[in-house]
Amino acid sequence: MEAAILRLDLVDPLISGNKWFKLKHHLAAAEQAGARGVISLGGAHSNHLHALAAAGKRFGFATVGLVRGHAVETPTVLDLQAFGMELHWLGYAGYRARHDADFWLPWRERYPHLFPVPEGGGGLAGAMGCAEIVEQARSQLGVLGWEDYDCWWLACGTGTTLAGLVLAEAGQHAVIGAMAVPEGHGVESNVDALLREGSRPCAKWTTEISEYADPAKSSCLKSRPPYSLLDASLGAFAKTDAQLLDFIRSCERESGIPFEPIYTGKALLALKQSVQEGRFAIGTRLIFIHSGGLQGRRSTDVAADLRVSPPT
Ligand SMILES: Cc1ncc(COP(=O)(O)O)c(C=O)c1O
Repeated sequence: MEAAILRLDLVDPLISGNKWFKLKHHLAAAEQAGARGVISLGGAHSNHLHALAAAGKRFGFATVGLVRGHAVETPTVLDLQAFGMELHWLGYAGYRARHDADFWLPWRERYPHLFPVPEGGGGLAGAMGCAEIVEQARSQLGVLGWEDYDCWWLACGTGTTLAGLVLAEAGQHAVIGAMAVPEGHGVESNVDALLREGSRPCAKWTTEISEYADPAKSSCLKSRPPYSLLDASLGAFAKTDAQLLDFIRSCERESGIPFEPIYTGKALLALKQSVQEGRFAIGTRLIFIHSGGLQGRRSTDVAADLRVSPPT
């Protein structure tokens, strides 16, 4: 088989990976609503908050971050502050309440001029921004000498990026998601909900996904979902082990491409294992999405371990 890596980590030094794609419709909606900025949520290492704060600084809008846990100074948090994001630490119980119906009320009252962006830039707006990744990759197939490809492989945290690809592909190519969280942690149901929402004729972005606008043409969703999810978490979100770190180190040494241990490193390791298990037919052409997240690896306790020497 052949695999090509779509280097979304290179699209921008700060708003990198899948982040711009996930944010673009949210930011457009904020502008349309006449908001002066955005308010969102994430952890103390959040790639999402990092990209959002960087976007706020670059494009001149206010950003407020509701952060999980108690105040800590991670490299990410220091950047958020340097980018001008105002932070509120919610504690752990406070952060768990983010799905409650009245969670946003006090924040909307306090910041009526800010537009709320869901955690991780999720929702259908996030997914539909990611749908554009498909077109971008297809336009570059000639560089590889490929006329077509068979499937996608990418890391999943909420499944928003994967849902965008599935909607854009409309059954043409399979999409395989390597979950950074164990099974049953919400990815499956989130993807399902996004696909249902995105395939409703009245969905806001259906013009971009016309095949799905007609249920008769989109039966593939009901019969055989053109995507699959596998557990690449190694038992828990952000859990690492020596094999993963060795793998990331050797990949980086051999290819010069940096991966981090939370999303992309685990996804690539899972791909390698699937290939070794013979799960792909000979001649399969696969596109692996490098979804970025490299800022987050500074704060892992393995950061020093991952610093590799240049190829000899
Ligand atoms: C680097 C990186 N890759 C992949 C993902 C997973 O994206 P999604 O939540 O859309 O599944 C994330 C989380 O947002 C991420 O930060």
